[in-house]
Amino acid sequence: MDAVATVLAYHERTKHRLDQYATGPGSLDWDAQPDPFRRWAGATEIPLPRDSAIPEPGNEVVPTLETLSILLRHAVAITAWKQYGPSRWSLRAHPSSGNLHPTETYVLSRGIAGLGDGLYHYQARDHSLELRASSPLLPDEGASLHLAFTSIPWREAWKYGERAFRYCQLDMGHVLAAVACSAALLGWSPRLLALDSDTLDGYLGLDRIDDFAGVEQEEAEVMLTLFGNAEPPAFTEWHGRPSLLDARPMYQWPIIEEIAEATRGALPSPSDETRTAAPRTQRVSPEILLRRRSAQAFDGHSVMPGPVFRQLLAALLPGGSPAASLWPLAARVHPVLFVHRVAEVVPGLYILPRSESGLIALGEAMRREFAWTPADVDLPLYQLVAARTERTARTVSCHQDIASQCAVGFMFVAEFAAPVAEAPAAWRHLHWEAGMLGHALTLAAEAEGWRGTGIGCFFDDADHEILGLKDDRFQVIYHFAVGMPVDDARLTTLPAYD
Ligand SMILES: Cc1cc2nc3c(=O)[nH]c(=O)nc-3n(C[C@H](O)[C@H](O)[C@H](O)COP(=O)(O)O)c2cc1C
Repeated sequence: MDAVATVLAYHERTKHRLDQYATGPGSLDWDAQPDPFRRWAGATEIPLPRDSAIPEPGNEVVPTLETLSILLRHAVAITAWKQYGPSRWSLRAHPSSGNLHPTETYVLSRGIAGLGDGLYHYQARDHSLELRASSPLLPDEGASLHLAFTSIPWREAWKYGERAFRYCQLDMGHVLAAVACSAALLGWSPRLLALDSDTLDGYLGLDRIDDFAGVEQEEAEVMLTLFGNAEPPAFTEWHGRPSLLDARPMYQWPIIEEIAEATRGALPSPSDETRTAAPRTQRVSPEILLRRRSAQAFDGHSVMPGPVFRQLLAALLPGGSPAASLWPLAARVHPVLFVHRVAEVVPGLYILPRSESGLIALGEAMRREFAWTPADVDLPLYQLVAARTERTARTVSCHQDIASQCAVGFMFVAEFAAPVAEAPAAWRHLHWEAGMLGHALTLAAEAEGWRGTGIGCFFDDADHEILGLKDDRFQVIYHFAVGMPVDDARLTTLPAYD
């Protein structure tokens, strides 16, 4: 099969259906969850400062070990430990499907004060860096700082089976958004690089097959420039051995390797139009980045005030949130809303097209009966149907109560067949875009005293049936819910780092 056919077949095959979930493990041994922390045994470990103060806005912030530490702390570090009885688990600045955290972070530094030149693996457990590669002689090309990301799909596949690669990609989107917000604290504007996967493998040593013999492979995702030269340094001397995460995997999902292979490729270079569109000044408060959580339950009765609702929607529009500020491509993912309880908004199904072309194409593709009544003076919000949609939202979200008890639910509809046909790697990029939008919602909700939760479990074609989408020009790729959270009083919260 060619790559496009592989992607379309994977997407189809990993749909949850009302009468059958996508193929996954029949049983789980919870005590055998893959290790959420990879270690590089034998690599020199460099502790990162834990309590550095964030520089006041307005001052130019140079990259140093301290400022890099601030960046990582507010984007990918542990932000709390939770305990219930004898169980204890960590949570991070960004959410992750099943809290399984497939994303690994790498730092490439050259000429950065306090940090030797090198490729480092970020060790979230201790908030430290492990030196993965260095070079005795590096060409003098000025200071630069890059971040790069990989996924370890087995962490998700262990629990979710064949659908897991979708979750890795949605998580990747959340991570990119978290990095963008954290960088904004320092006044930095990261730029995603259009590097193809093989080149990325080379920079990160993922092509050093022997190093990964007998342990879980990492899949190259993307690299970004935080500071300096767009061109990252290439290191030549490799250190350390990656740790094994799961000594006794009970299942194998070869389809995950197939979809990973089929979707390798570069992020397209940004168009001039999108390059300048992103806001560079907005920032989210550091407290919110550290405090953010996913709601595990909503109260089912709080009514969201109109201004909060509009803040959420504004955050979803291009240029509306620092969370999506590093996205270099035109908007291809569009939210459809289940409005359950919002002051002065009639309950029902609504849509917020994020581009003019999306508005037109969705209008043509969706159910003829939809009203498309303009529902806001400022925002491109349209009412499709007035109805109580709690039960429907719950059903299509794998019968999860969070989808009915929230104040507003979201389905993210992606322009699908055309981008995938043009470049199969777009399948990943669409999931990143959806993850970023989820992150924009999470942070906007948290700032207003509300809370969000990503919903990766949904019945794909049941969504399409509701929307009247009859082919794969569009596909729903993520759900989200925002409401008033109910905390689980049985859980104790412990600090991120002693
Ligand atoms: C892509 C994605 C899919 C998720 N799907 C669900 C879901 O279907 N149901 C749910 O209750 N939580 C879901 N979550 C929330 C995670 O369970 C949550 O992020 C994780 O437990 C970590 O908690 P935290 O976000 O508070 O750090 C999802 C999160 C992400 C990022």
